[in-house]
Amino acid sequence: MFASTLPPVGCPPPVLPLSDLELRRLADEGWFTREGFLGEGLALEARAACVALAEADRLRAAGIRRGADHTVDRDLRGDEAAWLADHLGDPALRAVADQFEALRAVVNAGAWLGLTEVNLQVARYPGGGARYRRHLDAFPGAFNRVLTAIVYLNPGWQPDDGGRLALWTPGRPTIDPVLDRLVVFLSERVPHAVEPAWAERWAITGWFRKPDPSAPLL
Ligand code: OGA
Ligand code: MN
Repeated sequence: MFASTLPPVGCPPPVLPLSDLELRRLADEGWFTREGFLGEGLALEARAACVALAEADRLRAAGIRRGADHTVDRDLRGDEAAWLADHLGDPALRAVADQFEALRAVVNAGAWLGLTEVNLQVARYPGGGARYRRHLDAFPGAFNRVLTAIVYLNPGWQPDDGGRLALWTPGRPTIDPVLDRLVVFLSERVPHAVEPAWAERWAITGWFRKPDPSAPLL
């Protein structure tokens, strides 16, 4: 045994297997939510770590599309973001990444999606009506993101603060971004939007991928 020099991290709960209800919702409607993904202690520590990233000027205006087509349009998408992979030295963010890895395992065990990796992004909507208009996280048929999972880091979020996640699925649900709520949806199938947020809104999003069949075997 060795003594850790890292500060304590709110002990996250085990990531439970997908319930029958969650599996059925994912298969039939393309999404489900789960409360208490990180545990309140870790969720608050993760938020503090995210705020520290912003204060250290590590977030950048988020764009749409990749490579040469990359553009920033604050009316289309008003958040600022950073890749979590660049900040795993922070114990709270490392623990969040571990929870998403555990989620990958239970999704693979329950839904047989064969997800091989997750890319995690921290996003901050500054308030003032910042939004993300309707979009898909992956293009149908293109080989990229399979499943999106988002955990929200906003204690005391009020209905008037807006910032709901709107899903274009049966019943047109909207989801308040309250502390430690997880939402999971099929990236290629569920168009969604972030409604204008009137308070600072934090989230960590994971995009789960499956292997690229065009990649060389060796
Ligand atoms: C995204 C996104 C939704 C949310 O980053 O692609 O749609 O609720 N985020 O933060
Ligand atoms: Mn999205």
